[in-house]
This record gives sequence, structure tokens and C-alpha cells, in this order.
Amino acid sequence: MNLINSSNSLGGEIEGIDLKKPLTETQIKFINHSWDERLVLVFKNQKLDDNDLINFSKNFGELDPPGPNPYGITFLPDFPEINVISNVKNNTGIPIGNLGDGEAVWHADMTYNEIPPKAGILYALEVPENQGNTHFANMTYAYNQLSERLKNKINDKTLIHDSAHNSAGMLRKGYNETNNPSQTPGARHPLVIRDPQTNKKMLFLGRRPHAYIIGMEVIESEKLLDEIWQHATQVKFTWTQKWKVGDLLMWKNLNVLHKRDSFDPSTRRVMHRTQLKGDIRIAI
Ligand code: OGA
Ligand code: MN
Repeated sequence: MNLINSSNSLGGEIEGIDLKKPLTETQIKFINHSWDERLVLVFKNQKLDDNDLINFSKNFGELDPPGPNPYGITFLPDFPEINVISNVKNNTGIPIGNLGDGEAVWHADMTYNEIPPKAGILYALEVPENQGNTHFANMTYAYNQLSERLKNKINDKTLIHDSAHNSAGMLRKGYNETNNPSQTPGARHPLVIRDPQTNKKMLFLGRRPHAYIIGMEVIESEKLLDEIWQHATQVKFTWTQKWKVGDLLMWKNLNVLHKRDSFDPSTRRVMHRTQLKGDIRIAI
């Protein structure tokens, strides 16, 4: 087993483990330790079926079922724990997965819930070459490098995390559009939280569209959020995953933001995905 750092900011590749086989205690410890350090881990050239993906994921926590998708369907009825991220449509024109082929803006997953998932695990089955990259940003680094002025401004603030839209901006089933962010539905979380393991402070931003800082004038909230987001998504805090078939990637959902580039709609991108239940209530 070997960990290779992917960048200065975050990300690491683990070599020398076949994830199809049951993991040993030593391997699980090594992965957990590496994950705490690097926040995003990649394992290349894996050959996993859906059972393998589920078994691997369960080594790191309890599975959290997929969030609601715009079509209100279970993508894999035999594996309801697995979500599908794909632009492919079946022969009746219904998407086989979420997020289409467009850009998915910077976000953390399902932070509109009181207890958001603590991790996402994504396995690449089919990917277009050199497109549809996924970027990650380290929210501990971003917090640490905020100016004292901004730290003071946000330390005791609470943010509404929009539950009405997915990261592709699509309205979820059962929600209405509103253009007043102070009316946004969704969980309320502190803008700065601490990692339950390391106790390190980090920015907890969720996603930019429809976000609102409680108690501020909408205009002031928008201005402050723009300033924080501009800071937090600077390239120096990020690392980019360029997908190959067989890559399995796992990220700490509360510690990093992620976003995905758009890609050519005539190509196929199919990922199977699990997520792990959060173990702390971060909402106040
Ligand atoms: C996700 C997600 C990005 C991608 O699965 O939560 O945002 O690269 N996916 O498909
Ligand atoms: Mn996501």
C-alpha cells in the first residue's frame, strides 16, 4: 500500500489495494488515516460490481440512501443504496441517472439536510476522455486563509442550505421556484464548523445559489456570500480529478466542496455512487 499526494492542497492516490477483495484491518486503518490527511482519495484500475461497491463503502460507515432526484425514481431498483450519476437515457428517453451532461456548480452533497452525508464514493464505469472532470476544494485551508476581517464577520453566522435545487440547478420534485433567498427552504448550519475528528475549523458553504445568511439584509447576505465563495474556490485550494474507467474516488463531504465540468452530450458518462451517513448533527 502506498499513498501519493495528488497536489499541495488535497487529494491522494492509494496504490496497491484491490478493492474487490475484502479489506484487512490494516488496509482500512491505512485508508482512514490517508483520508483524514488528504480528504479525497482515488484508487485506480478497480473492477467492481455493485455488490463490491456496497461492501467496500460499508467499511467506512453506514450507507446513506440517495437524495431525491428530479425524476422521482430509484435508478437501480435492485440496489436502492446506489445512486447513478449519468447523462445516458434509456430507450424510452428516461435518464438512467442524475446530473445530465451540464456543469454541476461547486457544492457539498445534501447539506440541506440536518445531518448531511459525511462522504461520497464515486466509481467510474464509463467516462468520456478528458471531459467531465471533477474539482475539489479544501475548506480547512480556505478557512485558515481568510482575512481576520472576514473570519470575524462570519464566525457566528448561520446559513440556509437550499433543498429545492440539485447541483445542476434543476428543481427537485415537489418544490417551487422562489427568487427571494431569505425564503429558501432547507437546513440551517453554522457557516464555520469543526471537523469532529481533528477539531479543525472549516468553511461550510453547501452551495452558492439560493443560500442566505440568517438575520442579514438579502443584499448584504448576497455580497458577503459572493466574497466568501470567491475566496473559498481559488485554484490554490483545489485539485482536479481527470476520470478514467475503473477509478474509485471517495471524498469527505463536510470538509471539501466539489464541482463537475460539463461534457459533450453525445458521449456517455456512467458512475455508480454510494454515500455514508453523517454521524453528527451540525445544525444549531
Ligand atoms: C456527486 C457529484 C460529480 C461528478 O456525485 O455528488 O457531484 O463528477 N458528482 O459526477
Ligand atoms: Mn455532488
